[in-house]
Amino acid sequence: MSVSQQEQWSSKLGFILAAAGSAIGLGAIWKFPYIAGQNGGGAFFLIFILFTLLLGLPLLLAEFSIGRLTQENAVDSYRKIAPKAKWHWIGILGMIACFILLSFYSVIGGWIIIYLYKAITGQLNGLSSDQYTQVFGDTISDPIISLIVQLLFILMTIVVVARGVQKGIEQASKIMMPALFILFILLVIRSITLDGAMAGISFLLQPDFSKLTSKTILEAMGQSFFTLSVGVSVMVTYSSYLPKNQSLPCSAFSIVGMNLVIVLLAGLAIFPAVFALGLEPGAGPVLLFNVLPTVFSQLPLGMLFFIAFLILFLFAALTSAFSMLEIIVSVITKKDIKGRKKWSWIIGIAIFIFGIPSALSYGALGDVTLLGKTFFDLMDYTVSNILMPLGALLIAIFVPLKVKKSVLYEELKQGSGLKRGLFEAWYFLIRFVAPILIFVVMLDVLGVW
Ligand code: PFF
Repeated sequence: MSVSQQEQWSSKLGFILAAAGSAIGLGAIWKFPYIAGQNGGGAFFLIFILFTLLLGLPLLLAEFSIGRLTQENAVDSYRKIAPKAKWHWIGILGMIACFILLSFYSVIGGWIIIYLYKAITGQLNGLSSDQYTQVFGDTISDPIISLIVQLLFILMTIVVVARGVQKGIEQASKIMMPALFILFILLVIRSITLDGAMAGISFLLQPDFSKLTSKTILEAMGQSFFTLSVGVSVMVTYSSYLPKNQSLPCSAFSIVGMNLVIVLLAGLAIFPAVFALGLEPGAGPVLLFNVLPTVFSQLPLGMLFFIAFLILFLFAALTSAFSMLEIIVSVITKKDIKGRKKWSWIIGIAIFIFGIPSALSYGALGDVTLLGKTFFDLMDYTVSNILMPLGALLIAIFVPLKVKKSVLYEELKQGSGLKRGLFEAWYFLIRFVAPILIFVVMLDVLGVW
């Protein structure tokens, strides 16, 4: 498939915003605080940063170069480079991962919608911290409500992807992303000035390595891939819509930078408040939803800010969700614009159906566990700690093996003037460090450690 006008980003900023939109989402804002909370805070954070720089960033660049080099979708790009081999299974693996991912991602997207509805209709005014926890717990355990909001989130995703993701994302992101940053800074200021906030800051920023286990390391790696959307070929797909004169390294650096800033802001917004309010940092997926309303309620015009925050948060989650559905639809439809609409609906609804047990994991199916995990947790574990690292491992093997070094250098240099030394550093990381490190860390899944 060659790139038609329809499928190109209209500006360089458009691509960065869409790729950053895919990266920045629930991973940084919702998932990072609760996983860090469960894994002892500072040490997890430090390892997460290391993995992001040593593995996430090089992999992001690797995916970008495959996408722009081939200008093909997630499956055909591998096929174009290695026609006779089975490497295109990396793309198929990515599609499967995104299918499962969206099925539980939409559950959390639904929770944002619930809170938004409750905040707008005044149901959250003047509650105490315990009451917020109670209201939230009651709501997400209601099967009908959870399913309705999950469906709503998926419908929003379908509508945008059916129209073509570029039109949907570019304009809105230009306003929403900066606004999200600003609100976060406000939130951090409030949180760190609460009485007793210091304990939360130390929790996040002072590593306690005695808490470190092989599981923590695996989760930190999974989290770094999750927040950057790497390993599932979403970034291959997005960069295939990119004209040749744009700088891939600059895009990758800015995405990683923005992502790390948002992760830090999310941590600084949540943990000081968790400790100041005497809440439990290891509370799990509900952490953010229990903490935030209390912090906002302590700000002047708190509910208004909370509503604004939820809208931006929902937007951040949606721009990530678009990329998950987009990769699947773009593989199936290729260039066929009419097919895009039909397939967006078919795949979207299939994802909703597959996601029903995840949505019910906080209520009706709360006691049903497989391998010691609820359905929701099992799906999350499978994607974050198995499929994404596996995809990343295969990409790290594929790129240096199947694409000539000189071709990679040319691709990364185009539009960026990348220095040879930096390229060599990247090549070393992707060729040697990434495969070995990912493989070793993943052995935890098999119980080797
Ligand atoms: N990076 C997204 C987030 O942090 O919320 C999640 C994600 C989106 C992962 C798209 C993978 C993906 F393909």
